[in-house]
Amino acid sequence: MELSFENKVVVVTGAAGGFGSATARAFAEAGAHVVVSDINTAGARQLAATLPSAIALTTDVTDEDAVRDLVTDAEAQFGGIDVMVNNAGVPHRAAPLVDLDVDTVDRQLAVNVRSVFLGCKYAVPALRRRGGGVIVNVASIAGKRPRPGLSVYNATKGAVITLTRGLAGEVGPDVRVNAVNPVISETGFVKSFSGADRLPDDLRTTWVAGIPMGRTATAEDVAHSIRFLASDQAGFLTGVCLDVDGGRSIH
Ligand SMILES: NC(=O)c1ccc[n+]([C@@H]2O[C@H](COP(=O)([O-])OP(=O)(O)OC[C@H]3O[C@@H](n4cnc5c(N)ncnc54)[C@H](O)[C@@H]3O)[C@@H](O)[C@H]2O)c1
Repeated sequence: MELSFENKVVVVTGAAGGFGSATARAFAEAGAHVVVSDINTAGARQLAATLPSAIALTTDVTDEDAVRDLVTDAEAQFGGIDVMVNNAGVPHRAAPLVDLDVDTVDRQLAVNVRSVFLGCKYAVPALRRRGGGVIVNVASIAGKRPRPGLSVYNATKGAVITLTRGLAGEVGPDVRVNAVNPVISETGFVKSFSGADRLPDDLRTTWVAGIPMGRTATAEDVAHSIRFLASDQAGFLTGVCLDVDGGRSIH
């Protein structure tokens, strides 16, 4: 029962960002060939250049043709894929639901839900061409324990959790489908919802007070959980949406 990913091919979307780059590095450390995919070409190339065996591919995960190409290009480059990490996603700017417009909602559904649908749709046949494999989706603890101000984002992550569990029931035993539910982490995500590079001190203090482990998540906390769920050690786990939340959702 190995945590090694020697000779395995792992695709990570949104891999130029906080969680995605830590995830790409974690799989690379375990010996994987990594497909570093992001809409941010420069960021993807920069990361791939630091990994022992990696390629960078530009992918807009809302675009069906682009996601299909991501999978076929990864197969062409490395001979198949063993793990698909559907990580790309963004929050909307924090605001009461009644102040959100329809374009924002449609964009949220496209980047956070259509993306995961497409990543799964094209990964499942590719994983089967390889004899089986694993999908890990990046949801959020916000999908289970929503806070005010991010209602539509929270709903998209609820959809990812339900999609993960539903698909897991369809595609076993050769394909496992799991998700992680991270708590707040100070990645590019903070800038997307707040406009600031870091959480304001008062907000961090309030949020950390609700996390028994006494801190926000690191990108490595999330990456290591994703890698575990994708590993042989998690070979009996499917439909699991793992709370990587330092205990935030206990109470
Ligand atoms: N940071 C947190 O607090 C937190 C908590 C729970 C869940 N999440 C989720 O984790 C995932 C990763 O977020 P992060 O925290 O690393 O944020 P991030 O902003 O650092 O990274 C997001 C990455 O996604 C890429 N991206 C955005 N739109 C894209 C598109 N259309 N196609 C392809 N790539 C696209 C960006 O270029 C960026 O590299 C997201 O799904 C997010 O919702 C984040």
